[in-house]
Amino acid sequence: MNSVFGALTGAVVGAMVLTACGISTSPVTVPAEFDQPLVIPPLAESSVEDDGTRVFELTAQRGSLEVGDGNPIPTWGYNGDYLGPTLRAVRGEKVAVEFTNDLPEPTTVHWHGMHLPAAMDGGPHQLVEPGGTWRPTWTIDQPAATLWYHPHPHGTTEEHVYRGLAGMFILDDTNPAAAALPHDYGVDDIPVIVQDKDVGPDAEFVLDDDGNEIGLLGSTILVNGTVGPYLEVTTELVRLRLLNGSTARTYDFGFDDGRNVQLVATDGGYLAAPYQTDRIRLSPGERAEIVVEMAAETTTMLRSFPPDLGRVAAPFAFGGNDTFDVLELRAAATLQPSPQLPTGLADHQRIDPPDATVTRSFELEGREINGRRMDMDRIDEVVQVGTTETWEVTNRNLFPHNIHVHDVQFEVLTIDGSPPPPELAGRKDTIYLEPRRDYRLIMRFEDYTDDRAPYMYHCHLLLHEDEGLMGQFVVVDGSGAANLNHSGHDHG
Ligand code: C2O
Ligand code: CU
Repeated sequence: MNSVFGALTGAVVGAMVLTACGISTSPVTVPAEFDQPLVIPPLAESSVEDDGTRVFELTAQRGSLEVGDGNPIPTWGYNGDYLGPTLRAVRGEKVAVEFTNDLPEPTTVHWHGMHLPAAMDGGPHQLVEPGGTWRPTWTIDQPAATLWYHPHPHGTTEEHVYRGLAGMFILDDTNPAAAALPHDYGVDDIPVIVQDKDVGPDAEFVLDDDGNEIGLLGSTILVNGTVGPYLEVTTELVRLRLLNGSTARTYDFGFDDGRNVQLVATDGGYLAAPYQTDRIRLSPGERAEIVVEMAAETTTMLRSFPPDLGRVAAPFAFGGNDTFDVLELRAAATLQPSPQLPTGLADHQRIDPPDATVTRSFELEGREINGRRMDMDRIDEVVQVGTTETWEVTNRNLFPHNIHVHDVQFEVLTIDGSPPPPELAGRKDTIYLEPRRDYRLIMRFEDYTDDRAPYMYHCHLLLHEDEGLMGQFVVVDGSGAANLNHSGHDHG
């Protein structure tokens, strides 16, 4: 039986539903069998120009996705039906992406987590009309990391991502840790893009949040577009690059047998050292790389456990009670040996807290930051290039928000005055904001001044972002700040 819909077990609200292989607490419905091979997004092809620029081609287009025996579901994808190829480049390389919009409406393509000029960032100001093209180019200038790309048109990002537009962007560098970690893409180094959908009776992804404050919490889980997936593991260690590609749902990943894994990297790259844990919470947009050890002929299930959402008013309304299976790992009869994990990983400099000379504070409340909704014509913050800044961020609501900052990878200095837990101690570009806690982030704005093209900072719960929980900053040098030219716009 490989009909996903036929195999879906009935869900009982509030009750735990146990099935042959799958576990679910409603409202998520998992297939009875995890019998679909996990689809691995292909590595994007590229060509290298005379000057060394690596050129990728991406086309946003309409497609359809077969989910079990159901009728194909209309989708959007990059270079295909659903999601997009994995882009991959090395630090120091110059890259260009030839982007074409074959969709019936304007979109953008944003490089989430990438340090690059604002005009190349693919934010709401870099709109590409239907039939239009765009060719951003920049030099990869940051440590190895798992980044991703997705649309960022103001007001319709949730819908565009939900329809299927997202892909991974893997960066490599010369850190010797790479060779000691599983690194054979699609073999022992696996992209795991987790998303939740509601599938309607007419074979369509339905985006109806039913008035939920945080947006849609879907009842069907897709991994790389696969429902009920399993991964054949052929090595002793397997590295999973987890990406929360959902619009609103926060996951708490672990395994059904309670095993520990090694967390080796977060949004912006490697941790200082592997951190052993049995859970990793990821809010929308966050990534985590984990290394899982398998024994031959065993299976284990990647599961999402009820995430601790902090002091939210009604956790169950925000997925805080949901448990469900995500991806089965099936180890082969014999496993290829894997190298031993290195004890040290990151080789990048940490930001020195005394370097911070500017402090800004951001209060997220409803759909506003510091009392204001996103205005495409307003620059909210002006940053001097070469400065290290502390950003104090607070979620003033009793429901989930998170915060994502473009251009930089930040470090979490403190949460309510205390050092962050190990999983938040590395480079991050997105963090979950538990209600009524004070997050102090430190970040450094090193280059790419542009007094016209802003970068965004926003909640990555995409409904919130679309509804205005976003602000804009420019990075300028000295007098540039006085010369801002946004023709008659208020610079707040
Ligand atoms: Cu993942 Cu501003 O976006
Ligand atoms: Cu939010």
